[in-house]
Amino acid sequence: MTKTKYVEPTGDEKAGFKNYPRPASPWELFQRSEGVPIFRGIGISDARELPREKWDRFGALGSFIQLLGTNNTTSYFVLEVPARSATKPVKHFWEERYIALEGRGSTEVWRESSSASTSFEWQAWSMFSVPLNASFRIVNATSSPAVLIGINNAPMAVNMYQSKQILFENPFVPDDRFGGNLEEYWKPGEEFEPHPVQGRAMLTTNLFPDAANCYLPLDNNRGPGFRWVNPQHGRNTVLTGGFIGEYPSGRYSKAHHHGAGAVLICINGKGYSYTWPKDLAGLTPWKDGKGDLVQKQDYGPGGMISAAPTGNPRETWFHQHLAISKTPFRVLATWANLGSGGSEGETVAGIGAELSEGGSSLPYHMEDPYIREYYKTRLAEEGAEFLMPEEAYTPAGTSIKIDY
Ligand SMILES: [Fe+2]
Repeated sequence: MTKTKYVEPTGDEKAGFKNYPRPASPWELFQRSEGVPIFRGIGISDARELPREKWDRFGALGSFIQLLGTNNTTSYFVLEVPARSATKPVKHFWEERYIALEGRGSTEVWRESSSASTSFEWQAWSMFSVPLNASFRIVNATSSPAVLIGINNAPMAVNMYQSKQILFENPFVPDDRFGGNLEEYWKPGEEFEPHPVQGRAMLTTNLFPDAANCYLPLDNNRGPGFRWVNPQHGRNTVLTGGFIGEYPSGRYSKAHHHGAGAVLICINGKGYSYTWPKDLAGLTPWKDGKGDLVQKQDYGPGGMISAAPTGNPRETWFHQHLAISKTPFRVLATWANLGSGGSEGETVAGIGAELSEGGSSLPYHMEDPYIREYYKTRLAEEGAEFLMPEEAYTPAGTSIKIDY
């Protein structure tokens, strides 16, 4: 290939183009080459609605879900393992988590060039993480299809290494990720501990047998009665941010804002989320005639939304999650833990901190009245009751904590 010679500008002329289209990243090129459909959007009411096509890497069927704001950090996909079949053995140098949407089966996990194999059973709403670079295959011995959502940081790994040898042909499996007593590896953890940094609930477990119905400890940070746990599994370092959170029926979260990356997947109940750009639409978009800038996604089990669907790293988006089912609305949230550009030891506002406390949560008494009004109509349609305490809408209500 002949190289083009760089020509210096003449006079005061600036070198380079003023504007240019962002090229496809190595991840985006790789994703396309996988040959399965790619869904793009802010969210989807149920990922099972997406068409699933033959996916050679897995020897199964699938579809990518690349929600706005997640490009080049995390990737999501739906995987169908047809009845009485198994995926091909797979391994990769990125972290990956699965949540089963329907069916049941088992997953076999082993180290390459080792006869030691581990396996565990799963059913709908089981969640597990395959350790970094371990080999695995997903087996469906039943007579109906199994459908799972996969979540990983493949975009970061592909963009960083740009080498299929490192990503797929690397024999190294770190002992601290997949070692020790492998007999116990898939035994579900049960002890909730305080997160060493944030102090909220944390559970270390490589397998959640039923993430949709398991006990969640009270947290209150996103609203009164909110339950929450941070799952740690597979000794992951990137897929460590995130939580399983639950809103009681008839209640909703305060709006809060941050940059792109977090994705919420509904795993029980039903609800909807709003998301809007903070700088363009402000605190009360409908009241200020900017309601058209607010996006809304309704979703039930298997549905999902990108909390801040922006590609602009300087933009933060408010988002708010509302439970409308008669039963609690439970979500699994994931994002890539990318660290902070700030200094070690600086004070970080906790997730429950409100605008007046240096945080990003908008207290209920300052929110747009339309949110409450419309919420009541949606609950009425579902035959569910509005259960937000009146005091929540007063300035004193910013600090109420309700245990029940
Ligand atoms: Fe958020």
